[in-house]
Amino acid sequence: MLILNKTAGVFFKPSRRKIYEFLGGFHFHTGKLFLHKLVLGIETSCDDTAAAVVDEAGNVLGEAIHSQTEVHLKTGGIIPPVAQQLHRENIQRIVQEALSASDVSPSELSAIATTVKPGLALSLGVGLSFSLQLVDQFKKPFIPIHHMEAHALTIRLTNKVEFPFLVLLISGGHCLLALVRGVSDFLLLGKSLDIAPGDMLDKVARRLCLIKHPECSTMSGGKAIEHLAKQGNRLHFDFQPPMQRAKNCDFSFSGLQHVIDKMIMQKEKEEGIEQGQILSSAADIAAAVQHTVACHVAKRTHRAILFCKQRGLLHQSNAVLVVSGGVASNLYIRKALEIVTNATQCTLLCPPPRLCTDNGVMIAWNGVERLRAGLGILHNTEGIRYEPKYVVPFIISVQLYHKNQSLNFAFTVKVFIDILVVLEERLY
Ligand code: KG4
Ligand code: ZN
Repeated sequence: MLILNKTAGVFFKPSRRKIYEFLGGFHFHTGKLFLHKLVLGIETSCDDTAAAVVDEAGNVLGEAIHSQTEVHLKTGGIIPPVAQQLHRENIQRIVQEALSASDVSPSELSAIATTVKPGLALSLGVGLSFSLQLVDQFKKPFIPIHHMEAHALTIRLTNKVEFPFLVLLISGGHCLLALVRGVSDFLLLGKSLDIAPGDMLDKVARRLCLIKHPECSTMSGGKAIEHLAKQGNRLHFDFQPPMQRAKNCDFSFSGLQHVIDKMIMQKEKEEGIEQGQILSSAADIAAAVQHTVACHVAKRTHRAILFCKQRGLLHQSNAVLVVSGGVASNLYIRKALEIVTNATQCTLLCPPPRLCTDNGVMIAWNGVERLRAGLGILHNTEGIRYEPKYVVPFIISVQLYHKNQSLNFAFTVKVFIDILVVLEERLY
C-alpha cells in the first residue's frame, strides 16, 4: 500500500502501524469512504433556513438552503413570527436535502453544529430545537455556534489562511472589524455604533421604492442599489462619510441614512412626485450612497490595518484582510477595499458570494474547526439556550485587551488623508 505524504508531497511505503493510523482516519461503509470527521451544520439565525454536511478536509458533501428574502421584500422587512413559521415549514426538508445530497446518514455524523447566537430569537429557536431532537435521537455531540465566528472562519475552508488575520464582516445584521487570532480568539477592533450597512442600504432602497423598479423588483436593497448605481452619476450628490474625525475603527450608518432620507424628500418636492413613486434621480442617489458607504467602510478598515501593522498584530510579510457578509458581495465596496489593501501591502480575500451570505456550510465548517481544536463540544445539552443579543465575551474588545496600555488608534493626519484622496481618485 502506498500513501501520499501530504507534507512531503511524495509516495512512501509505510509501516503496519502507519497503515492502521491512516485507516483509522476513515469510516468505511459499503461503497462509501469518508474522511473521519463529518459535521452537519444548521443555520436559522435570520431569514435563511440552511444546512450542510462538511468533512474535515473542507469538502462540502451536501448543502441546501431556503431563502425567505422574497417574502420579506413584500412586507418591507423581516417580521419575526413570519420568519419563524417559514423556518418551521422548511427545516426538516432542508436538513434532509443536505444529508441526502451528501449521502451521509445522521448516524455517520461526528457532530451536529448549530447557530445559537446572535440572531432573531424566534428564528434561532427553530434551529436549536430541531438540532437538539437530532442530537438526542442519534446520540451525537452538539457544537453551539456563534454566527459571527462562523462568518469569520469561512475563508479557512476556501483558502489556506493561517491565524492571525483581520476580518471585516458587513451585512444586514452585522458590522465589525476584528483580529482573528484563533478559532474562538477574536480581538474586536471596531463595530457599528448603530445599524449595519446592509440594513441602511435596505432602508434607502425601500425609501426609493426600488422594489417597483422593473430591474430591481426581486433584488435585496443592497443589490438593487449596486445595480442602479451603475447607471447613475455619484457626483450629482455629495454625502459626507460619517465619523471622519473619530480616532477609532467604529462605524456609523444611521446619521447618513437620515441625511439621505432628507435629500430624497427634497428631491420628491422638486420633482413634484408623491412618496411611493420612483425619482428620476434614483440612480444618481444610489451611486452617491454606494460611494459614501464604500469610502466609510474602506477608511475605517484602513485604520484597523494601520493599527495592527503598527502593533505587529498581523504577519509582517503576509498580512491578510478577509471581507465577508452580504454587503461584501458589492463589487464597488470591494474595489475600495482593494485600494486600501494595495496601499498597505495586504492581501484581500473574500469567500465566494454564496458563502459570504448566510449559509449552512459556514456553520458546519465552524463545527469542524471546533472539533479539531477540541473547543466547545457538548456531550450533554441540558440547559443549552439560544442567545439573540449580540454577546461580546467570545470577542475580546480592544479596549479590554489594552486596559493597561494607552489605546492609540490615532495616526498621522497625512496617512489618513492620503487614503481619502486615493479613494476619491480611483473609485470609478
Ligand atoms: O449576510 P446576509 O445574507 O444576511 C445578514 O444580514 O446576515 O446579508 C444580507 C444583506 C442585506 O442587507 C442586503 O441588502 C445586503 O446584504 N446585500 C448587498 C448586496 N447584496 C446583498 N449590499 C450591497 N451590495 C450587494 N450587492
Ligand atoms: Zn450573517
